[in-house]
Amino acid sequence: MATLELGVLISGRGSNLQAILDAISRGKLDARVRVVISNCPAAPGLERARSAGVPANVIDHRDFRGREPFELAVISVLREHGCEWVVLAGFMRVLTPTFLAAFPWRVINIHPALCPAFPGVDAQAQALAYGSRVTGCTVHLVDRGVDTGPILAQSVVPVLSEDTRESLAARLLAREHELLITVLGWVAEGRVEVDCRPTPDERPLVTVRGVVPVLGLCTE
Ligand code: GRF
Repeated sequence: MATLELGVLISGRGSNLQAILDAISRGKLDARVRVVISNCPAAPGLERARSAGVPANVIDHRDFRGREPFELAVISVLREHGCEWVVLAGFMRVLTPTFLAAFPWRVINIHPALCPAFPGVDAQAQALAYGSRVTGCTVHLVDRGVDTGPILAQSVVPVLSEDTRESLAARLLAREHELLITVLGWVAEGRVEVDCRPTPDERPLVTVRGVVPVLGLCTE
């Protein structure tokens, strides 16, 4: 299969971006990160990109009037760099249909909960507050909603009685890195098939061929 040409959008720390860069440099993922774009000038992830020799651009959403002009600028940079897939790695902006149409079913997000549970911000705190005994992370294709798109894979992580938001977030983050690289590997291998024939709820049917898209229960 062809090397995955990725654009990665971030807003902050960039540990998922780092996991991608590390997997590529260790030969564990057949991909190239063509460009990293942050909507936040102070995002620490920008430095991670630069250290890996990847172009890192800031496109600050506050410099634009509205979402679409901002997104058009992002699309243009992604296209300039030849990106074919887009990974949202802690990107804190909801994308409009304009952006999604530019990369149809080729935008991937990682969310720190078992979708459809706990969408949006601070999913870890939501899981704790609810009293969930398990939570996890989800890698999914992005649609117009918030963390609602077709699920590619999920990984289950226990919530321990002594957990704080921080301890749970740390356990989840390690699993996020693992799941994201695994799924990108499947994409690179051409295992992900999206059938867009009209379905009753207009949700495409997504198949991940030849693998079980669930990572096991974590026992640590
Ligand atoms: C991760 O928990 C990711 O699931 C969520 O935002 C966080 C980003 O972390 N969407 P990082 O910037 O990749 O370290």
